[in-house]
Amino acid sequence: MKELSVNHLLGIKYINKADIDLIFETADQFKEVINRPIKKVPSLRDITIANIFFENSTRTRLSFELAQKRLSADVISFSAAQSSVKKGETLIDTVNNILSMKVDMVVMRHEKPGAAHFLANNVNASIVNAGDGAHEHPTQALLDSYTIREKLGGVEGKKIVIVGDILHSRVALSNIFALQMQGAEVRVCGPKTLIPRYIESLGVKVEPNLRKALEWGDVANMLRVQNERLDVNYFPSTREYAQQYGLDKQLLDSLNKEIIIMHPGPINRGVEITSDVADSQQSVILEQVENGVAVRMAVIYLLASKIKQ
Ligand code: CP
Repeated sequence: MKELSVNHLLGIKYINKADIDLIFETADQFKEVINRPIKKVPSLRDITIANIFFENSTRTRLSFELAQKRLSADVISFSAAQSSVKKGETLIDTVNNILSMKVDMVVMRHEKPGAAHFLANNVNASIVNAGDGAHEHPTQALLDSYTIREKLGGVEGKKIVIVGDILHSRVALSNIFALQMQGAEVRVCGPKTLIPRYIESLGVKVEPNLRKALEWGDVANMLRVQNERLDVNYFPSTREYAQQYGLDKQLLDSLNKEIIIMHPGPINRGVEITSDVADSQQSVILEQVENGVAVRMAVIYLLASKIKQ
């Protein structure tokens, strides 16, 4: 049986193309399962998973929980805001206490880059990174690529433009790694202040003009400005940001081709994307969310197979 090259999913940077192919082949099977009347398989009846979230989440947390339940795993979920972390407990103490309840796998979101690596090095469980600060969000990148593969028949040779706050985005970095690994070409577009200086060293070109970026691409992944991570003003005003980097229907319809519109969510309607674009035929935003469950089922199933050995 084929298996992943890793025991944890800490980032796209640490997996390879064969891992991505295996995750997608497995997700294809689970997508078929979750579209049946009985959306559940007994595969992980002997596995217990803890979801520990130190940062807010809607999609990722619910998607992981649903994926685990569809695989029949036992699931416990933990929010730092309602926990003894607020009384000063450390990350390792918190996680070791959870693991002493015989937990096999931890899915963690944390505001600090590297938190998932730290956990993997210090506790005895399989770790899945559900987003660590501005570092990586590997399952988001996997579900984004899976959706492109589904819509365009593959990722290789496709042109993807990522628009917005690249500097503070874990989604951007994980997408760049995942898309390039599969042979796609990636460009970024956004205010100069929100594009990291190292971006070209990753083989990514910068296109400052949104119209030109969209005319080049097959897919536009529109990112939210990460206001919670902005320590200073990176652009004059939200209104000016929206005028220069926001995608509206007039601009979309004026392109000489139909591109695919993606967004990882949560959307700031009227800022990076208008409602008529978010809800248009070209938008695959809710398909991304649907595919997230199948892709996360695949990741959990494949990592759990390694625990069982
Ligand atoms: N895409 C994403 O990570 O959304 P949440 O923050 O709601 O989990």
